[in-house]
Amino acid sequence: MLSTLLPLTFLLPFAAVPVAADTYDMVQEYAGQNFFDGWTFFNHFDNLTNGDVVFVSASDALSSRLAFVDTTTNHAIMQVDNSSTVTFNNKRNSVRLQTSVRYGVGSVWIADMLHVPYGCSVWPAWWSNAPTWPTGGEIDTFEGVNLVTNNQMGLHTLPGCTVTGQNQSSPLLNSTDCSNLDNNNQGCITTDPNPASYGAAFAAAGGGVFVTEYASTGISVWFFPRANVPSVISSNASSIDTSTLGLPVGNWPSTSCASNQFFDPQNLIFDITLCGDFAGNTAIFAETCPGVCYTDYVVGNGTNYNTAYFEVASVRVFSKQGTNTIVKDNSAGTARVATLGIVLGALGVVALTML
Ligand SMILES: *[C@@H]1O[C@H](CO)[C@@H](O)[C@H](O)[C@H]1NC(C)=O
Ligand SMILES: *[C@@H]1O[C@H](CO)[C@@H](O)[C@H](O)[C@H]1NC(C)=O
Ligand SMILES: *[C@@H]1O[C@H](CO)[C@@H](O)[C@H](O)[C@H]1NC(C)=O
Ligand SMILES: *[C@@H]1O[C@H](CO)[C@@H](O)[C@H](O)[C@H]1NC(C)=O
Ligand SMILES: *[C@@H]1O[C@H](CO)[C@@H](O)[C@H](O)[C@H]1NC(C)=O
Ligand SMILES: *[C@@H]1O[C@H](CO)[C@@H](O)[C@H](O)[C@H]1NC(C)=O
Repeated sequence: MLSTLLPLTFLLPFAAVPVAADTYDMVQEYAGQNFFDGWTFFNHFDNLTNGDVVFVSASDALSSRLAFVDTTTNHAIMQVDNSSTVTFNNKRNSVRLQTSVRYGVGSVWIADMLHVPYGCSVWPAWWSNAPTWPTGGEIDTFEGVNLVTNNQMGLHTLPGCTVTGQNQSSPLLNSTDCSNLDNNNQGCITTDPNPASYGAAFAAAGGGVFVTEYASTGISVWFFPRANVPSVISSNASSIDTSTLGLPVGNWPSTSCASNQFFDPQNLIFDITLCGDFAGNTAIFAETCPGVCYTDYVVGNGTNYNTAYFEVASVRVFSKQGTNTIVKDNSAGTARVATLGIVLGALGVVALTML
């Protein structure tokens, strides 16, 4: 993703295609005391993005309270271990969990969060991908590193997916080629201009809601700080019409990146890693933090990580009205994926090391 940073390109005003406007019905809710039912924990050190963490098993996460439901608020907490001392050459415990089922094209997922992880060396994301990467695509709804102040959103795909004609509110378009082979797999990124979309300002505003629409007409992300959450979301309505949400902050229309072609059903993922390919990149780290990512932060007693947690009220998933987009088969599955998987086998080893 990111060793190469492109200069910011301003979005040019031109005729955009309409964003998807569909009604969706709720098919799954992750909330309350049962929040962690239906997720698979990674249970391996971070061999995906080279972060300095061990993503623990579900039982270790629950017993060491790196993942638990707060009995007072009923909110799910997912956090980096901030109570252990890590010595040099060792990694710190953290969590990476993904939904046990996948959600196909024609889905919307809505995450209501009170707090997102931040701090020097911290790299959290709320995102999705398919079992075969990059063939099945990746949708990053929320991602930040270190002490940046704004959320970045983006896609990662096979070559051929680009972004043109966005109908979105953010003017901060960082990159438009979604291919994992371009720009060091930076993806096609849009930054949210709202500083309440990440970090301390997100928490101070009471958090907010991220909406991701994965439609045949394109992919869109909305972010609503707490004060502006639409009532259809805050009231837990069982249906939502995305055309009532206004302009998305980020939009990737199918006209230049067909979601049916570049994306397979997605596993939804929360993870928090430390340092690694993005947060730990020396130049990127120095943009917002002093010192050295691993030795000055990961190593030590963990007091650097008191803000490195997600607090989530709910994740709700919706399917286009009249359909059910839940896919229970978690294998790559289709002939297309299998064929491309063989062709891309060698590439995949390299590609999987990046988000
Ligand atoms: C952009 O999206 C908004 C909100 O959905 C819609 O009202 C508008 O017509 C769209 N604009 C274009 C040019 O498609
Ligand atoms: C990372 O570890 C997991 C769990 O052992 C394994 O399935 C996967 O193949 C590994 N990925 C890479 C890129 O080494
Ligand atoms: C994207 O652009 C914004 C606005 O200029 C900038 O703050 C941010 O660092 C850029 N992100 C990346 C990953 O280049
Ligand atoms: C939200 O609504 C769904 C049904 O539409 C219901 O099953 C669920 O319990 C509600 N969640 C909360 C937290 O009230
Ligand atoms: C944790 O380590 C930092 C840096 O060495 C130190 O300033 C702080 O007092 C320590 N905190 C505790 C609770 O030991
Ligand atoms: C770890 O961080 C959490 C969240 O801020 C906090 O409640 C807890 O007291 C911290 N633990 C330690 C040992 O400082």
